[in-house]
Amino acid sequence: MLDVQKVRADFPILSREVNGKPLVYLDNGASAQKPQVVIDAITCAYAEEYANVHRGLHYLSNLATEKYEGVRGIIAKFLGVADEDQIILNSGTTEGINMVAYGWAMPRMEMGDEIVLSVMEHHANIVPWHFLRERQGVALKWVDVDSRGALDPQKVIDAIGPKTKLVAVTHLSNVLGTKVDVKTIIDGAHAKGVPVLVDGSQAAVHMPLNLDEMGADFYAITGHKLYGPSGSGAIYVHKDRLAEMQPFMGGGDMIREVSKDAVIYNDAPMKFEAGTPGIVQTIGLGVALDYMMGLGMENIAAHEDRLRDYAVDRLGGLNWLTVQGTTPDKAAIFSFTLDGAAHAHDVSTILDKKGVAVRAGQHCCGPLMEHMQITATCRASFAAYNTEAEVDALIDALELAHDLFG
Ligand code: ALA
Repeated sequence: MLDVQKVRADFPILSREVNGKPLVYLDNGASAQKPQVVIDAITCAYAEEYANVHRGLHYLSNLATEKYEGVRGIIAKFLGVADEDQIILNSGTTEGINMVAYGWAMPRMEMGDEIVLSVMEHHANIVPWHFLRERQGVALKWVDVDSRGALDPQKVIDAIGPKTKLVAVTHLSNVLGTKVDVKTIIDGAHAKGVPVLVDGSQAAVHMPLNLDEMGADFYAITGHKLYGPSGSGAIYVHKDRLAEMQPFMGGGDMIREVSKDAVIYNDAPMKFEAGTPGIVQTIGLGVALDYMMGLGMENIAAHEDRLRDYAVDRLGGLNWLTVQGTTPDKAAIFSFTLDGAAHAHDVSTILDKKGVAVRAGQHCCGPLMEHMQITATCRASFAAYNTEAEVDALIDALELAHDLFG
């Protein structure tokens, strides 16, 4: 079981005040706070161990390369992947999905081909596919969620037709907290010969993963939500897809030889990692993932499930508030609106005055907002360091907002 007070002590920012109140940080879906070990690793990497990677024959370059390359194995372990050459290091999910769009999808799709998506995808898993729609005439087929925000995996499988070339689906909605049964989708899609890309930005933070068992073709994660630095991340690409994929960006590091008339690429995964990478960010991500594995992903999930149940109970007691996304097995992510005229931005401003940080707006999910016929929600998203007392603080602040706007 997680000792939450001990976890909190690992995160220096959690002891600060905001607007004269103790910080209640519930914007973890947007980005998580960083433990001291990550902050120390970043400082150490710059202060004592910094040089460019893969290029030098000197001590510091070798040390930095060793630290940086070691993270590939840490990510593979975290994701349950035996072969770490299937892990491409990058700046996060957006880069990962764009790489797949440019390097794998564009060369193999033509006018009339289809990509199947759920309506609750994040823009990072929508806009790269719009590029294919705009430039190559690829059709986007949308699968709706039900009134509780659940995605029926069979509906996704049924949407796959003879022209479908890819299914791209989130593992956990950043707005609704809905967990998606991606295993059933992957098995059904593969039975029809269609690869599946999974956006794991949110899921990787909240649940243990075993990608070798899951069987996804592509699985994208982002470091800053995983208690690591911004500008870090990775995408898992199954070795069969890796063999089919063309490099997305050209430059140093991804080549073996370049002449005036020819270029020979490096082997994967480096073939897909052009230019000087986010060296220190990636080293910090490795430390963050080790920290999470030290806490235990099962323990984090169990703690967050308890918080979810408590929050469901407390939010459910407010008859002037509507929670979007009410599937029972959801993550501790709550999007809500206050009945009446209060706009989500105004509500979040009142919460901020009480030290409670939430996100308000569309949450980079335009199609979902359209589907729900809502312009904006407030979103409270919980992490391993949050407590029941912080749920209470959220409720108190919401009651204040209701008094002011109600
Ligand atoms: N994707 C992040 C969020 O949901 C930014 O807030």
